[in-house]
Amino acid sequence: MKETDLNKEGTFSPLLPGYPRVIGGVSVDNPIWLAPLAGITFASVRKFYRKLGAGLVHTEMVSALGLCHRGRKTKELLYGSDEERPVVLQLFGSRPDDIERGAETALEIRKFEALQINMACPMPKVTKKGSGAKLMADPKTSAEIVRAMKKPGLPVWAKIRIMPSGSAMTTCEFCELLFESGADFIFIHGRTPAQRYEGKSSRDAIEEAARRFPGLIGGSGDCCEPEDFLDHLDRGCAAVLAGRGILKDVFLIPKTLKALGGEIPSRYCEPSPDFQSELLLELGRSIYNTEGQSQALMISRRMLAALFKGFPGAAQLRRHGALARTWQDMESLLENWRDGKDLPEIEFTKDKFPWGVIGG
Ligand SMILES: Cc1cc2nc3c(=O)[nH]c(=O)nc-3n(C[C@H](O)[C@H](O)[C@H](O)COP(=O)(O)O)c2cc1C
Repeated sequence: MKETDLNKEGTFSPLLPGYPRVIGGVSVDNPIWLAPLAGITFASVRKFYRKLGAGLVHTEMVSALGLCHRGRKTKELLYGSDEERPVVLQLFGSRPDDIERGAETALEIRKFEALQINMACPMPKVTKKGSGAKLMADPKTSAEIVRAMKKPGLPVWAKIRIMPSGSAMTTCEFCELLFESGADFIFIHGRTPAQRYEGKSSRDAIEEAARRFPGLIGGSGDCCEPEDFLDHLDRGCAAVLAGRGILKDVFLIPKTLKALGGEIPSRYCEPSPDFQSELLLELGRSIYNTEGQSQALMISRRMLAALFKGFPGAAQLRRHGALARTWQDMESLLENWRDGKDLPEIEFTKDKFPWGVIGG
């Protein structure tokens, strides 16, 4: 197997001018961080993007109540190696006691650089139990949760959305309450809870809070190009989250770091198809060995669709990837392709691809 820089310890270290710097109580090499993404930012993916330059990574949201019950599946979400640090544990829940006990249980299992409370998730299965974005409508409980999370002694962060117009509090007033309760950093996703993931994320609303609380606000929403991250930083954000953009362009973080003046090897900014397949193999193997086959297939199919575009044979490769049934099928497909072996032609028909092929 050929080695990419990512295999070798410490060969890809995108320290930006002016860094390391302490943001929200955590020392980081740069302000471009991997967002929490449920079902996606598990350990192998976090390690991969950390090595691709992310200054910090988040776990996906973990149920505080699940941790209190020491559920096996919940505890598995905590798994991760030291290579991914700094890593922030994101919890969700609705009761200060559960959050405090859940945080304590998590910290018995492993170290995290900070604890974050999810006050942003708009999905009914989370909000109907009073968690996620529902907390934004309950400032008293939100403040109590932040105070409870301070007890283990780690920096406490919150992730919120912008307040809908007509709410009892503005976004800035809600931030002020959380800071007064002890929050060390707040991420704002520039959509209201009712917007879920529709419409445009408002950078103006985030900027207002970032100007009012300098160094304490991070931005999130619609960051798909390096310019989007630069814009959030120009508007006063101390850090910016890379969310769905990393699934569309795996190299989004190194490209952004380069735009910020980082010394990034050119193959991370203009990656060749060979290099891309090496990286995908590396990530897929790591997921297969750690999280298992279904996750390895799910992520590698998504990445195949995102990475392999615009060169001869790319559509065929994506079609073969969509039909891979096991990780071994996917692995040998990528190896054969990397080694220059011809792929048999697959026609695009509805019976073979009833779900369609992303970008195919
Ligand atoms: C599939 C998916 C899962 C997400 N999971 C979480 C989560 O667990 N916790 C959280 O705070 N935000 C979560 N988010 C929101 C993202 O962290 C981010 O704030 C949002 O996607 C906006 O950024 P973007 O438009 O650049 O993707 C999720 C978003 C998506 C699309």
